Amino acid sequence: MTCASLSKHYAVIGNPIEHSRSPFIHELFAQQTGQALRYDKIKAPLDDFPGVVAAFFAEGGCGLNVTVPFKEAAFVLAQAHLSARATLAGAVNTLWMEQGQLHGCNTDGLGLLHDLERLGHAPANKKILLVGAGGAARGVVFPLLDGGCAQLHIVNRTAQRAHQLHQHVISHMPPLASRLSAGGLADAAGSWDIVINATSSSLGQTPPDLPAGLYGPQALAYDMVYGQQPTPFMQQAEKQGAHDTADGLGMLVGQAAASFAIWHGVTPNVEPVLHALRQHLRSA
Ligand code: ATR
Repeated sequence: MTCASLSKHYAVIGNPIEHSRSPFIHELFAQQTGQALRYDKIKAPLDDFPGVVAAFFAEGGCGLNVTVPFKEAAFVLAQAHLSARATLAGAVNTLWMEQGQLHGCNTDGLGLLHDLERLGHAPANKKILLVGAGGAARGVVFPLLDGGCAQLHIVNRTAQRAHQLHQHVISHMPPLASRLSAGGLADAAGSWDIVINATSSSLGQTPPDLPAGLYGPQALAYDMVYGQQPTPFMQQAEKQGAHDTADGLGMLVGQAAASFAIWHGVTPNVEPVLHALRQHLRSA
């Protein structure tokens, strides 16, 4: 999709938005690929997300990244033109206008897939434990299955939400049922190749209450949250014998790269931008 507007204007929209790294990432991608663009942060009022989106595009804006708490609202706004990934995630993080129509995609799952590949833990044929059943988990279930994992087990503190997510996915894609299961945190027991924390527990400084002994040989513990230090989940996993641990900074840059590719038709190189962002985070 190429934008006809002369001043190519993009932004990330959320509330709060002050700490968003998206302008930093997109400006580096633009330098790397020779695109001229402007990328801002927009704080939308909680009660007028649709109005702010409409005004942005009416003024010639080319594309928006959408973050907390508006991804479900963006899904509703773009419901006439959603990608399959957005439909299955029930959420949109990338908006653009094509022939006067608002289009939406969800690139979070692609960001995770690319990061797992970068880390040498591509999901194909792996046994994966996904912890959490909120919006963050929902966005990555289909991409992980699509990435060819052998088994995906969703566990959540409130087991019922894990079962609901399981039902949602298999009702849309019945053939996936044989590789997907769900339960409570206590049902996490097993020997997993990859354990992904998609809960918001790290924000509260406590890891999810998972049983010990989850990590198979060579296993990766991946936290979708990131920070200056290893997250509580990563620290817990290291103590419990995970071979590798990673936070979600690479997923953040990966989802941005996938949005950039939709908007500009060119896929940027994630690695140098991830490196620069890590340095920036450490010195903050
Ligand atoms: P998000 O969009 O970030 O996923 P959410 O929809 O509010 O946010 O979901 C938060 C997720 O983190 C849920 O899976 C939640 O578990 P519950 O459904 O039982 O609430 C999970 N979560 C939050 N804090 C947690 C904690 N301390 N331990 C385990 N799970 C936690």
